[in-house]
Parts: sequence; C-alpha cells; structure tokens
Amino acid sequence: MSTPSLLILPGDGIGPEVMTEVRKIIDWFGANRDLAFDVSEDLVGGAAYDAHGTPLTDETMARAQAADAVLLGAVGGPKYDSLDFSVKPERGLLRLRKEMDLFSNLRPAQCFDALADFSSLKKDVVAGLDIMIVRELTSGVYFGEPRGIFKEGNERVGINTQRYTESEIARVARSAFELARKRSGKLCSMEKANVMESGILWRDVVTEVHQAEYSDVELSHMYADAGAMQLTRWPKQFDVIVTDNLFGDLLSDLAAMLTGSLGMLPSASLGAPMENGRPKALYEPVHGSAPDIAGQGKANPIACILSFAMALRYSFDQGDEATRLEQAVEGVLADGLRTADLLGEDGATPISTGQMGDAIVAKLSASL
Ligand code: IPM
Ligand code: MG
Repeated sequence: MSTPSLLILPGDGIGPEVMTEVRKIIDWFGANRDLAFDVSEDLVGGAAYDAHGTPLTDETMARAQAADAVLLGAVGGPKYDSLDFSVKPERGLLRLRKEMDLFSNLRPAQCFDALADFSSLKKDVVAGLDIMIVRELTSGVYFGEPRGIFKEGNERVGINTQRYTESEIARVARSAFELARKRSGKLCSMEKANVMESGILWRDVVTEVHQAEYSDVELSHMYADAGAMQLTRWPKQFDVIVTDNLFGDLLSDLAAMLTGSLGMLPSASLGAPMENGRPKALYEPVHGSAPDIAGQGKANPIACILSFAMALRYSFDQGDEATRLEQAVEGVLADGLRTADLLGEDGATPISTGQMGDAIVAKLSASL
C-alpha cells in the first residue's frame, strides 16, 4: 500500500506551536515504527486570510478532500474580529467540516490519574473518568437556513435555524451506538425535546435506530440542560453521549474541564468511508487558538498530540501505536511534567511547549 497522506493545517494562535510538537511525534513514528506518512502543510483560518483573503482556498479544500487524514491546529484570533462574517477564520474550519461531510465528531474526555487533583471538581468525581461525546458536526443551527441579520420594521433581527433531517440524526446515532457497543454498551442522547421540535424528532429517530439495530445497547435520553448539570454532578454515570452540533459544542467544553484543562482534549471528526476504506477524517484539539498565550511557548501540545493518536486509531488502523502514544503522554504527566495550563498558583515551574513535546518523544523511545 502507498504511504498514507497527512495534510497538516496549523492555523492560528497556538496552532503552529502545538503542531511543531506533533511533527516531532510523526517523525518519531516514521523513524522507529515503520509508519511513514506523506506529510504536507497548508494554511487555514486567519493565516489563510492573511495570505489569500479567504480562510480556506479552493486548492486547500481539494487537498483536504484528497488526503487520507487532515490534522488541524486552531483557528481565529482578535485580529480577525472585525472581518466580515463570511471570511472569518472559523468559516474555514466550518467549510472543511461541511464539505468533507464530517458528521460524527468524537470528543473523548478522559481524566489522567496524574491530573485528578487538578480539576476544579472534587477528585473522586473525576478520577478515572473516561467518557466520549459524539457531537453532530455538519448540520443543526451552525448551518440551517434561513440565517442572517435582517431588517424588520425599525429594528434588526438576527436569525439562525435549527434544522435536522431524519437521515442526519440516524447516521450520527449509528456512529454513537457503534462506539457504545465497543465500550460499556451505554448511550445517552441529549436534546431539548421539551421545547424544540427538532429535539422531538431527534429523540424519535434515535429511539427508532435503537429498536431496529442496536437493542443490545442501553439507551437513555436526557434534556441537554439537565445533561450539563449531571455532567458536573456525577460525570461517571455516562459512557457515550450523542448530541447535536450546538449542544455538543457546549457540553464538550464542559466535559473538557472535568479533566483539568482544555489543553488535554483531542477530537476526531469522521465522515463516510472513502474508496480506500478509510473514513474521511479531520483531527483537531478541542481547545481554540488561545491568542493570549500564542507565540510564548506556553501552550500545551498534548491535545494536538492526542489528536494524532486518534488519527492512528481511526484512520490508520494502528490502535496499538495509538495506545503507545497515549501511554507516553500519561507517563510524562506521571513524572510530574506540566505545561503552564496544568499548574495551580503554587509557584511550580512549568515546562515549555517544546519541552513537553521532547519529553513525550523520549517516553516513546523508552517504550521500545
Ligand atoms: C469547536 C469550536 C468551533 C465550533 C469554532 C472554532 C467554530 O468551538 O470546535 O468546538 O464552534 O465548533
Ligand atoms: Mg467549541
């Protein structure tokens, strides 16, 4: 088989810094595990806007469609706040998700033992936590029409539309049921069926898919507001959660903080299988571009490195090597190494972005 291709889009803010560390990891696997990738790099977000006047060129879009997997850093920053909505950095990311049809966004929230003390919640609430949020990523209020700011009489009205078709709900439900089957066999679906028709349909369709294809999985339903409350009260009651685009955006940030830092959380956005059998896929950290710390060597590269681990698992069928990388991260944390986001106010000295990457590479080498 030919060398798999990996398109890297570092993007804005801390994106390029954390991606530099991922490149070290990719190189390590090439040199030590016979896992070579054909890596190329391109621009997205504000970086693409600066160079081309658009947050994603058609050429880059085509390269993403052709790649075996895409790895993205982060997009956005205050510099671009006043840009027209249509060319904001975020539009580049949303176009990738939409045109690659990456409907299933996996956002694991896992609390590493070494960090259990670091969460703002009590240790026994988060220790050992391992949940997976499956967020619908190509529809809902992010993309529904009509949308816009319109004139109505003497005032303006802002409109967005929450819209879901049965097939959009069914396909993300199936991907969540499949994951639940491989994990503890439990799935909780979240919507607002008490106030939204799209929520009623969501609940109906998830129930139908369950009855027809996945009755072996234990399914529960929860209103998304109650779900947010339960996620902070006792998150370990959940295993896999499936929810829509907007609720998934909110709930995954919440779940990320359970683990101590947003700097720890990877994600995989998956679509339908391509001709070679691999799913269309984009991997990115859940954290944003963090412009306040960009360029200072303070960023935590772990979320992006763990996103590459997800690529090894979900795109390249290298589950054992993904586990090797995850264990290297765990080992470095167990050694007490921390970037600034993982330190309290106790005056301990953080290591830099680059030192964290080097430490993980050293752990990988020690694993051989
Ligand atoms: C995320 C981010 C994005 C989103 C932004 C950057 C468009 O918050 O991936 O969670 O809202 O989906
Ligand atoms: Mg978000």
